[in-house]
Amino acid sequence: MIAQQIKTAIRDIPDFPKPGIIFKDITPILKDPALCDGILDAFIAQLGDTKVDVVAGVESRGFLFGLSLAQRLGVPFVPVRKAGKLPYERKKKVYELEYGTATIEMHTDAFEPGQHVLIHDDLLATGGTVTAASELIQEMGGVVAGFSFVVALGFLNGRQKIAPISDKIWVLADY
Ligand code: PRP
Ligand code: MG
Repeated sequence: MIAQQIKTAIRDIPDFPKPGIIFKDITPILKDPALCDGILDAFIAQLGDTKVDVVAGVESRGFLFGLSLAQRLGVPFVPVRKAGKLPYERKKKVYELEYGTATIEMHTDAFEPGQHVLIHDDLLATGGTVTAASELIQEMGGVVAGFSFVVALGFLNGRQKIAPISDKIWVLADY
């Protein structure tokens, strides 16, 4: 039900941002408040009684539902940001991309050592981004509580990449 609603709302954009890539545009979902509520309801149902102390949302589209999810859970939201955006003391993680590297950062006071951090992003593709976020969180003493995504692109095998970190992988709509 929710999976079909998400898929109906998502717009496929061919050759964006590069030729050969079909971009999953989630912005129509954001224009539908009832669907956004349904997405949050579905995440809450999937999480059940999973221990979550903090939700970490990955810049930038992971902020969209990440904060709302944290609010629903009644726990803090913390941003995982691209390099050079966070103003306070921070810790960084450099990770490999197809061409070159990328850097993500978190504030050093984002959570306390031993806290269970749910990593949220809009979309799971190769899993490279959330793997880097997981490593950063673990280096900071956190426990990865699991991963939540609105959408996963199964053909890129992101699940297989992140399963060794946590087998708690919640996805609302699979492609
Ligand atoms: C997209 C998407 C995920 C990531 C998934 O973000 O929102 O964050 O890529 O890819 P991966 O599983 O292969 O790492 P993007 O880098 O396009 O930035 P944005 O969220 O700021 O639009
Ligand atoms: Mg993103």
